Amino acid sequence: MNKVENSFLNKNQFGEDFLWGVSTAAFQIEGAHDADGKGSSIWDVFTSQKGKIKNDHHAITACDFYNSYQTDIDLIRELNIPNFRFSISWPRIMPTGVHPVNQAGIDYYNKIIDSLLESGIEPWITLYHWDLPHALEIKGGWTNRESVTWFSDYAAVCAHYFGDRVKNWMVINEPSVFTGAGYFLGIHAPGKKGISNYLKAMHHVTLATAKGAKVLRNAIPDANIGTTFSCTHIEPATQNAKDIEAAKRVDTLLNRTFIEPILGLGYPQKDLPVLKKLNNYILEDDLNNLDFHFDFIGLQCYTREVVKSSLLIPYIGAELVSADKRNVISTEMGWEVYPPALYHVLKKFNEYKGIKKIIITENGAAFADTVTNGKIFDIKRTHYIQDHLEQILKAKEEGLNVEGYFVWSLTDNFEWAEGYNARFGLIHVDFNTQKRTIKNSGLWFKDFLS
Ligand code: NOJ
Repeated sequence: MNKVENSFLNKNQFGEDFLWGVSTAAFQIEGAHDADGKGSSIWDVFTSQKGKIKNDHHAITACDFYNSYQTDIDLIRELNIPNFRFSISWPRIMPTGVHPVNQAGIDYYNKIIDSLLESGIEPWITLYHWDLPHALEIKGGWTNRESVTWFSDYAAVCAHYFGDRVKNWMVINEPSVFTGAGYFLGIHAPGKKGISNYLKAMHHVTLATAKGAKVLRNAIPDANIGTTFSCTHIEPATQNAKDIEAAKRVDTLLNRTFIEPILGLGYPQKDLPVLKKLNNYILEDDLNNLDFHFDFIGLQCYTREVVKSSLLIPYIGAELVSADKRNVISTEMGWEVYPPALYHVLKKFNEYKGIKKIIITENGAAFADTVTNGKIFDIKRTHYIQDHLEQILKAKEEGLNVEGYFVWSLTDNFEWAEGYNARFGLIHVDFNTQKRTIKNSGLWFKDFLS
């Protein structure tokens, strides 16, 4: 009997059409960094530099999904998970980022797609989950306006080769995170810093999101097309006007900046004045090319943030009060465990008129797991998932739009700047042997989905 937790949750409460899935990303799982003609990505380069990643971890092998995808697909089936989200590594199928394509890379993704379909698992593809071809970064990466064309050509290649069998697509993953961390703070690949790099990348990524989606729509008329945003419930540290204003600016930055132009509302420049600098990069017709009517919006929510005003922080005048300082329970990422954040975020995004359908495309938790007699009793992760599902139910009962839930992640994997220290999987990976062990959270999810 796999019931490891007492929970009153029942899958049927969410309705028959509610989508259940699990999410991954190419760079975090595949490894095989230079196999069969693959080009380098900005993350291959970034992780090869000393001091960028905790313990200098790299993803040369990662979870070896490139070679062991069949084992993992069998595990997805064993866990009764009907939908699998994965991303295409752009440099695996286009080593220099532009034509010609690398047939071995195409063949690899075709094998995954075919194997998923044979196993009765629906494939959900993310086009861009942060691993830009390094050859394009040399030309400026997302700060170069040409990136919009590079990306839409890449989207056309994916649609051409995979669109006959894959109907669910996500264009770009968490634009605010990879532009903020990669082009402003320099703590993610490609390690660029500064406001002008950030704003250029922001505008080009937003244009590329709309253009990539249009390419998919034209090439695959019956596709279900979405894109995913990170989102966080924001609260002011106190009820002082300054903190309230600071919280509003952080909310604008983290939750509104990328989605509003896509919904046809333009950039929220009024509530975050630094965004006015975007006007330096916006060309004449751009404002007509920022929006797209997506079939669904993927929201990825893990926590809440508490914000206080701070004159020391440029552009935003605000800082986050860490979970540590607030003395609240947190995960290995230092993120507060606060399930109501998911409900608040759903309520907030439901206020936008232009969203057809909301799917939670990521939610999950990193905790330090220990293997005891070949078993992982990750009770905190199980509770984390259950408590977040309860918030979804609450939202549904109030009639809010939310039609799916994907756990991050299938297996423990390479967690960007945190390396392998932050384990998010339903399945434990021993990175020395690549042995997989289903954690109790995975067994609970399996039981829940059966
Ligand atoms: C967001 C990202 O999409 C994913 O790549 C990352 O591993 C998880 N959140 C956890 O941080």
